[in-house]
Amino acid sequence: MNTLTTVNSNDAKKTKPAQGFTLEYSAISPRILQLKFHANTVKEFLNQLSDWPIQALEYKSFLRFRVAKILDDLCHNQLQPLLLETLLSRAKGALVISAEGIDNVAQAEDMVKLATAVAHLVGRSNFDAMSGQYYARFVVKNVDESDSYLRQPHRVLELHNDGTYVDEITDYVLMMKIDEQNMQGGNSLLLHLDDWAELDTYFRHPLARLPMRWSSPPSKNTRNDVFHPVFDVDHQGRPTMRYIDQFVQPKDFAEGVWLSEMSDSLENSPHKLSLAVPVGSLLLINNLFWLHGRDSFTPHPELRRELMRQRGYFSFTSTQYQMGQ
Ligand SMILES: [Fe+2]
Repeated sequence: MNTLTTVNSNDAKKTKPAQGFTLEYSAISPRILQLKFHANTVKEFLNQLSDWPIQALEYKSFLRFRVAKILDDLCHNQLQPLLLETLLSRAKGALVISAEGIDNVAQAEDMVKLATAVAHLVGRSNFDAMSGQYYARFVVKNVDESDSYLRQPHRVLELHNDGTYVDEITDYVLMMKIDEQNMQGGNSLLLHLDDWAELDTYFRHPLARLPMRWSSPPSKNTRNDVFHPVFDVDHQGRPTMRYIDQFVQPKDFAEGVWLSEMSDSLENSPHKLSLAVPVGSLLLINNLFWLHGRDSFTPHPELRRELMRQRGYFSFTSTQYQMGQ
């Protein structure tokens, strides 16, 4: 049994010894683990990757798994089962991951390498049509002319799941902060489905399982609408969600009113968490039972924020998962 996974959720904030990284529960919620790679782990990881620029990882898909294995080996193979156990555990499903000495935009390529390794220990990142790569880096500035709220400061990006307008399953979302200048506000917002008091009311509504139409604006580079219900269930019959307010296209009055009221219920949930993610840190969540969003910023003419995201599907053998139990 992996000692890292025996930490009792009542022991929030207690640190356990680990190989290559430290681990503790987030002060914000015992559902969220905070993992920090030691400086030596990061140094050796980047040394072993020195022959591979990011372009090599873009061109050769299998190298993304190679770098994942390098990181796991440096962590004495404790990392992969820990990540899987956390992300698949209904009670948790979320991590904030950082690395000692990685905290500056000049290290952006190193950040992408580290995030790629982490993501490919739990699955595979999908093609991101917005960037044409398996990851997307994007910048938020004070003035924005985009066609969705993703890159618009000064407004709340409401709670949602990712991947609602594509056919691929989006089990996980990884969001990394690459740069932040002159920022006030803009915290990540999170809500675990089981912490939403009105989940049962909406999950049991007749419209909950009815396929709805989802379409995205031109910047997403996806042409076809997709159809799926807002709610589904996992292998144990527990509710999962694929929802975003901006891209769902209600077909009539009943759907529109139901969605609108559900949006208010989510936004007004007292259990919504607000989390500051520092430069060089990433948030990795189970996308099917965590909703995420972003709080508004304070305007500033020199405001700059750069983010990187990867979304993908889980892939693991039963042995790998059992190692995390
Ligand atoms: Fe999102």
